[in-house]
Amino acid sequence: MTHFHTLKKNVTLRLSIITIFSLLFLLSACKDDNTIKEANYSIVPLPRKIVLHAESEPFILNKSTKVYYVEHDNESHQLASFLSAYIKESVGIELQLTSKDESKNIIKFKVDSTLNLNPDYYKLSVTANNIIIHGASASGVFYGIQTLRKSLPIDKTNKVSLSAVEIEDYPQFSHRGALLDVSRHFYSADFIKKYIDVLALFNMNVFHWHLTDDQGWRIEIKKYPNLTKIGSQRSETAIDRHSEEYDNTPYGGFYTQDEIKEVIEYARQRYITVIPEIDIPGHTLAVLTSYPELGCTGGPYQVGRGWGIFEDVLCAGNDSVFTFLDDVFTEVADLFPAKYIHIGGDECLKNRWMACLKCQARIKDLGIRETKEHSTGEQLQSYFIHRVEEIINKKGKSIIGWDEILEGGIAPNATIMSWRGTEGGTYAANKGHDVIMTPESHVYLDYYQSSNVDSEPYTFGWLTNLEKVYSFDPIPAELPKDKRKHILGGQVNVWVEYIPTSKSVEYMLLPRMAALAETLWSYPQEKNYNDFVERMYRQSLLLDKLGYANNKQAYGVQAKYDYDTVKSEIKIILSTFDNAPIYYTLDGTEPTEKSLKYSQPIVIAKSTGLKAVVVREGKQSEMYSKEFSFNKATVKPIELKNQPDNKYTFNSPITLVDGEKGYKNTYRTGSWLGFLGTDMIATIKLGEQVSISSVKLNQFINSRGGLLFARSITIEVSDDGKTFSQVHHKTLPILNEHIKPQVFDVEASFDTIKTNYIRVTLEAINKLPSWHEKAGAKAYIMVDEIVVE
Ligand code: ACM
Ligand code: ZN
Repeated sequence: MTHFHTLKKNVTLRLSIITIFSLLFLLSACKDDNTIKEANYSIVPLPRKIVLHAESEPFILNKSTKVYYVEHDNESHQLASFLSAYIKESVGIELQLTSKDESKNIIKFKVDSTLNLNPDYYKLSVTANNIIIHGASASGVFYGIQTLRKSLPIDKTNKVSLSAVEIEDYPQFSHRGALLDVSRHFYSADFIKKYIDVLALFNMNVFHWHLTDDQGWRIEIKKYPNLTKIGSQRSETAIDRHSEEYDNTPYGGFYTQDEIKEVIEYARQRYITVIPEIDIPGHTLAVLTSYPELGCTGGPYQVGRGWGIFEDVLCAGNDSVFTFLDDVFTEVADLFPAKYIHIGGDECLKNRWMACLKCQARIKDLGIRETKEHSTGEQLQSYFIHRVEEIINKKGKSIIGWDEILEGGIAPNATIMSWRGTEGGTYAANKGHDVIMTPESHVYLDYYQSSNVDSEPYTFGWLTNLEKVYSFDPIPAELPKDKRKHILGGQVNVWVEYIPTSKSVEYMLLPRMAALAETLWSYPQEKNYNDFVERMYRQSLLLDKLGYANNKQAYGVQAKYDYDTVKSEIKIILSTFDNAPIYYTLDGTEPTEKSLKYSQPIVIAKSTGLKAVVVREGKQSEMYSKEFSFNKATVKPIELKNQPDNKYTFNSPITLVDGEKGYKNTYRTGSWLGFLGTDMIATIKLGEQVSISSVKLNQFINSRGGLLFARSITIEVSDDGKTFSQVHHKTLPILNEHIKPQVFDVEASFDTIKTNYIRVTLEAINKLPSWHEKAGAKAYIMVDEIVVE
């Protein structure tokens, strides 16, 4: 009995084990079924028209799905291979290619040039049976493939559900570009391909390769071997800007013509045109070092070790310069299939030409005379560019030049790349020239991405956040309708003085390049920044997966500040693009989900350290942090007699008493005010009979950059805000040309006094002294945080 019982129990046990195993097996099978992940068509750039058919069955992508290609059609096979690789990258499913046209569970492409005049047009139809991409050309198909790719989930799965949809899409602009400078720093050909890959991901179609500059010539030219043997190497590299300090480490590199051909082919397969830039007649120290006879003085020259611009440029009076350029452009034109060659033309100083006998003889021969509009130097530059344009046109190519080539008269067939704002581009378009808009103000990516600068690598300065790039419209409002066709598009530019590694290039490029990609793809009325950030957040997960460094500031805490000078309070308004919860601390500790949860603006009236994070799907965003330091002047009513310069106005005048001390890395991001050629005279209403005995403030000095120390400081007090009496005056030391960029404290102490108002005057050295290369021009004083105790 007992035995039987035991046996039965054992059988039951064994059965139970089998049942559990089967259940587990079934469960895991079910789990597989349940891991169906949804595609999401909310991508960047947002397709123009998305019509979801919610009532229809979705397409289920699984490992039996096939990608169709047309037999013996290389391009078709290439496109199918791309898609298959992208799908494997995102979800881990490896799809087979087939040239057999099946009716079910297949992805197909078709090119039909009658679909649309825009070659980049595509239509993407998803039904339960298949996915079909129709392109007006192969590039259209390629963008349809990118759309499909960006819609996929990015976790490993064996089934993806794609809702039935009709997507119709095409870009607004035909030139959707990104420049990479490879002279100031150099990156391998493999990295250039990685750069091209991410351009393709966001439907960009031009890679502008800035191959030559003062600090290094980076393209092999067979006829002139010194260009790479000598010109691609520099003895050392500047540490920082205007510091006059160098790293004592030789630096160099160049691309062989074979590598260049490989990159061009790689780009071509991704529907990206590579436009080479050979920058002339300025930015040519590397040429002159290689072939000194091409300069006005004959040298000796040295490949640039520091940043900025140099006086030595190609001689405009020497015909062998044009022979040299003809030869160089012959090789360049043979290598690059693009219609355009970019010839630079920017920032060419004219000093050497003015002092050169050959250049002066040329001016005389040409009968150039100074006019009201154009100096002789500008007209000589115009002659130079015209002559180079002829050389390049003869090779069947057209030139693009930076907007400086407008000075002295525009070359007849030139396309203008407008970088010093959009005015040059507007002028050129009005004259019937094609234009690419790339204004420094919105699309130079060597600037900071947020005002939280310490969370980012050191940059050239200025602040170009994602929202600013996104807000850019390449078509100037003032351009007449019939001239708009001349605006071919826009471009982000990555200049790399302060970007020594390819990882930093990625970080500076992303996600801002994607913001421009959408700006160039969509019409302004279709754009919505918050919606873009939400989509970009999803796409950032793909960037992470693909191994691209990318800035995530836009997905973290966004902060705005209201300054109430009546109550002397700062109201801090925090937000996120998606209303995910924000947690913060005000005591300097790291915020967690146990910290204060943000629900309404935070009001502060004393020294405070704010730290805040967003928590999304259990993960913390990057931390936002800011220190506020209060003193007797903080958030008090302040007036300025002279206004700061436009470039350094920021949040004037409150910037001087906003509780935030400016420091070196923030002198171009909003923490300082800059007064150009005028004194800084600030009157602050402290309140009723406030007892004070000192004023401290900071100045940012950079002699070579033209940011000088004030000559004197004066402190005055007043009870009525009208009649002031002086309590302190001091002359400040004269600082010479060797002061590298740094912050100086200025302090004024006096006997304790009670007052209602205080007036602080910094007397400026309004003109740059004789030792400065721009002697006589206006000088800046950069000032921040007036601290009254
Ligand atoms: C430029 O930034 N010098 C074109
Ligand atoms: Zn000369």
